[in-house]
Amino acid sequence: MLKKIIIAIDGPAGSGKSTAAKNIAQKLGFTYLDTGAMYRAITFLALRNGIAEDISAIIDMARRINLKLRFENGITRVFVNDEEVTGQIRSSEVNAKVSDISKIPEVRAELVKIQKKLGDEGNIVAEGRDVTTVVFPNADLKVFLTATIDVRTKRRLREFQEKNFSITYDEVKENLEKRDKIDSGREVSPLRKAEDAIEFDNSALTPEQDLDYLLVKIKDVLNKSDIK
Ligand code: DC
Repeated sequence: MLKKIIIAIDGPAGSGKSTAAKNIAQKLGFTYLDTGAMYRAITFLALRNGIAEDISAIIDMARRINLKLRFENGITRVFVNDEEVTGQIRSSEVNAKVSDISKIPEVRAELVKIQKKLGDEGNIVAEGRDVTTVVFPNADLKVFLTATIDVRTKRRLREFQEKNFSITYDEVKENLEKRDKIDSGREVSPLRKAEDAIEFDNSALTPEQDLDYLLVKIKDVLNKSDIK
């Protein structure tokens, strides 16, 4: 039996996790798991249903939700209860609220359950805030991606501009700093570098250089496993 590989990447918003994970998944034919999209989907529904301040209603929703991710043509399509919410989960309203909702331990427990199940199928690249520490502590390769706040802000700003969202550099920076603080400071599963993760600052690199570096690390792992 061939070993099923799990690659886990954590890091703050705008550190390039999604781009790196997608590129790896496409290169190796692995499944791409965007765990942030799951927290975003719950947040979007909570906002739309007017329950974003009602913790027990959010927990109840997280327990009932039918959440599906489909990675197609380089994008993660997100469905909740069979409705597609791919575009809506990236709004600035969701950006502003998602870290608060991600702090709720019961919400995390529900989503981690789904994520682990996906990991059982193997050959997966997962990215988020706790995939190296909580979801897949035994991942074959763990990466902690970082970049400076200025670089991360510019990357996110460019994404918004490409979608014709009107937002300033300062607004994006403020949202990133706020989320970094909540995501790293929360009690349950805070964003932190796992002891055995490779720390990698990609501020000065292009996505292609990022991918090349990570592929070298992955090759090392694959050479040590049953997959060649
Ligand atoms: O990666 P992202 O920006 O799409 O993530 C959105 C938010 O979701 C992030 O600010 C915190 C939360 N999140 C989390 O708490 N745990 C994860 N594994 C992934 C995301």
